[in-house]
Amino acid sequence: MNPEKKSGIMNRRYSCFVLAVAAALAAVLAAGCAGIPPPPDGNSTPKPPEDAIALPEPRTEGDVSVEEALWGRRSVRVYAEVPLELADAGQILWAAQGVTDDRGYRTAPSAGGLYPLEIYLVAGGVMGLEPGVYHYRPGEHLLVRVGAGDRRTALQAAAVNQTPVGDAPATIVITAVPERTTAKYGERGTRYVYMEAGHAAENVYLQAEALDLGTVVIGAFDEDEVREVLALPENTTPLYLMPVGRPVPGA
Ligand SMILES: Cc1cc2nc3c(=O)[nH]c(=O)nc-3n(C[C@H](O)[C@H](O)[C@H](O)COP(=O)(O)O)c2cc1C
Repeated sequence: MNPEKKSGIMNRRYSCFVLAVAAALAAVLAAGCAGIPPPPDGNSTPKPPEDAIALPEPRTEGDVSVEEALWGRRSVRVYAEVPLELADAGQILWAAQGVTDDRGYRTAPSAGGLYPLEIYLVAGGVMGLEPGVYHYRPGEHLLVRVGAGDRRTALQAAAVNQTPVGDAPATIVITAVPERTTAKYGERGTRYVYMEAGHAAENVYLQAEALDLGTVVIGAFDEDEVREVLALPENTTPLYLMPVGRPVPGA
């Protein structure tokens, strides 16, 4: 065979081989990434409404070490009658589910990066916020009002009348859309969702401690009543209430 023709065939074969290897590599990479889809932004519509409330930029440095926050953390059920600053409310929401990475990952871990948690704020005494129920959008770090009026007394009634809920200037409500996780993990996903609520709640405890605020996880409540007070979407389950306020020394 003509040596030039032979080398042409060899070159074409080599190119095909390189292309095949590249395609196989791309397929392997795509398969590897497929397990971690881009994190969704909860129940949020693609675009926030015009009247959404931008929260102050969250702090990523502070004066209290993790060890000090762990050492000092205690459930706090009595609060001073002072309002909560918007920056503190925002910081605590960020601790619960804020986005900390360009890829959308958050302050708390999530099975498969599926992010089933949705955080609400029932506000009655937060500076700069009309009393109402707000939905936190981690992607943009802002609040969208989903209910008007002070719902704290109604929420207290839904929580077997536990007074911290009615007394605190605001209560964080950790809810979940379990389907996001169970669609992939089946029954095991239900457990994962509960675990994730625990991660977020501990973040809230530690952040509150670092801001000289107090909170308590409240698991004793009537699920349907809480759903009603917050007018939660059908697919959303309330998991924890966390009233937040300034502790009263010695109380
Ligand atoms: C799953 C769970 C549910 C809880 N529910 C309530 C509750 O409904 N009301 C309340 O006052 N405290 C509740 N707590 C808080 C505990 O009472 C508290 O963590 C415990 O007394 C230990 O105190 P510490 O948090 O200060 O360490 C709950 C804690 C957990 C983990």
